Amino acid sequence: MILPPHLTVRGGHLQIGDHDTVDLAERFGTPLYVTDETRIRENFRRLSSALTGYYPEVRVLYAAKANGNLAILRVLASMGAGADVFSAGEVTLALAAGMSPESLLFNGSSKSPSDLALAVEKGVRVSVDSLDELRELDRAAGEAGTTVDIAFRINPEITVPTHPKIATGLATSKFGIPAGEILDAYRHALAAEHINPVGIHCHIGSQILDVEPFAREVDVLIGVASDLIDIGVDLSFIDIGGGLGIPYRRGIDQAPTPEDYAGAVMPVFLAGIRDLGIAPELWVEPGRWLVADSTILLTRVSSVKAAHKTFANVDAGFNLLARPVMYDSYHEVVAANRADAPPEREYSIAGPICETGDILAEDRLLPYIAAGDILAVLDAGAYGFAMSSQYNSRPRCAEVLLSGENAGLMRRAETIDDLTATMVVPPWQA
Ligand code: LLP
Repeated sequence: MILPPHLTVRGGHLQIGDHDTVDLAERFGTPLYVTDETRIRENFRRLSSALTGYYPEVRVLYAAKANGNLAILRVLASMGAGADVFSAGEVTLALAAGMSPESLLFNGSSKSPSDLALAVEKGVRVSVDSLDELRELDRAAGEAGTTVDIAFRINPEITVPTHPKIATGLATSKFGIPAGEILDAYRHALAAEHINPVGIHCHIGSQILDVEPFAREVDVLIGVASDLIDIGVDLSFIDIGGGLGIPYRRGIDQAPTPEDYAGAVMPVFLAGIRDLGIAPELWVEPGRWLVADSTILLTRVSSVKAAHKTFANVDAGFNLLARPVMYDSYHEVVAANRADAPPEREYSIAGPICETGDILAEDRLLPYIAAGDILAVLDAGAYGFAMSSQYNSRPRCAEVLLSGENAGLMRRAETIDDLTATMVVPPWQA
């Protein structure tokens, strides 16, 4: 396994940034999400400069669903990021983190009237996903006496090499307006009194380890842009979404770099807009690539059991990291307090949830492991805590942020009292 540069081994312990993971586990308890802020900053700089090297008018909208902690949003806001927001909660958090309304795009295939009213009230642009939504947004903007800038989300009907649950641009996907109907949708938008169509939006899927589908996507969008110019749409942005994957199998997965990504999409984009004689902003919506590798999940071994396999039973399960169970995802596991010990045997890392499928990692060759040891699950910063639950009435764990020599909570652990905090005694039980 090849560790990313912010993860190192010192004195037999895994370090993240300047910090010893075993000390962090002792100090803050386990399970524990630990994020290295410096790594997020490096990732942002790298992705953003790979793109702006080709074209200055690039806007990076961080996909807030990947990790919506306010502290993370603040870090990205301070770097100049906007956000792809998918709910009233994400709009509110992004604004609270200091992002400006114009740097957000409110996405989603099922926004409620109150979501749309919030976008109107805050002055956030909307990626519209259906004609019903367009009508409701026009009504909401009219009621507020204003006009809303929108894009339509296009379904480009592009197959991508990723898990089917996270391929979003397939013809069968619930997202977007089919490419064949998109012009008609823009005609409706042009005719609507309180709607100003200014952009095109697309997102083809997530954890994509090949850049070619992104280039094809941009090609489709340029074709649509050409048709839109013909019907009188004045395009100020083209948003190509997120989706760049990371090498979860460290040293094995061949993942494109941001430079590969930019090298594939930018020439198509630049040639396209030059031919059309327009200069819209290019928007991208990376989530995973910015935050996934910044974070590890520390979990303590409760017991080791030799059954038909050797199970290392740990205190974090799919309540805290749903990806392995949901998408058969692979996350590397490091024995944090024996990080330079030789491999001993294969262990399956099993969570505490009452389901057979609650396995974080299958058959991993690891050093000798005993109860009390600390394991680190890598690349847990995207769709990790963000998808956690209280299943089996387990309070969620804490999240720690590291910045240089600083280490501090960015979310406290929930308590048993938190489990009942929103429960109400029905009147007849009182
Ligand atoms: N833009 C839109 C409209 C999206 O729906 C998404 C992700 C992104 C951007 C960011 O995609 P990224 O750069 O992170 O690939 N829970 C799954 C991933 C779901 C992705 C949902 N949409 C996972 O754990 O793999």
